[in-house]
Amino acid sequence: MDPLLRAAIEARENAYAPFSGFRVGAALETGEGKIFAGCNIENATYSLTLCAERLAAAKAISEGERRFRRIAVAADTENLTPPCGSCRQFLWEFCGDIELILVNLQGKTESYQLRDLLPRPFDVSFIRH
Ligand code: THU
Repeated sequence: MDPLLRAAIEARENAYAPFSGFRVGAALETGEGKIFAGCNIENATYSLTLCAERLAAAKAISEGERRFRRIAVAADTENLTPPCGSCRQFLWEFCGDIELILVNLQGKTESYQLRDLLPRPFDVSFIRH
């Protein structure tokens, strides 16, 4: 299996999801091929919940990474789980039109471009003019 997909599936094992029971893993690949993984981390206040995708991105960004190739998202669903709207917006800021691969525990995959999941995105180009 592609190491990026494996990293997303493995990261899912660390999910802290006692409230929803819905475990997600994500793995982001840098321009140099380094992988940063994350899982969802819920909170008793609910609204403080961190999504797997944003956590993986924040780990990479905080380590100085700025160029990304692909992101994989793993969940245990037959209908493959896509990133939520907030994660799409967050990823767009740093990753632009990145390849996004969804995977489940049976190894079923689907590939998308982020632009296709986030049409007409708002970004920094509207602020700096
Ligand atoms: N979740 C993610 O981490 N990523 C997604 O792509 C979808 C949703 C998490 C947030 C929450 O902990 C749980 O899944 C249920 O929404």
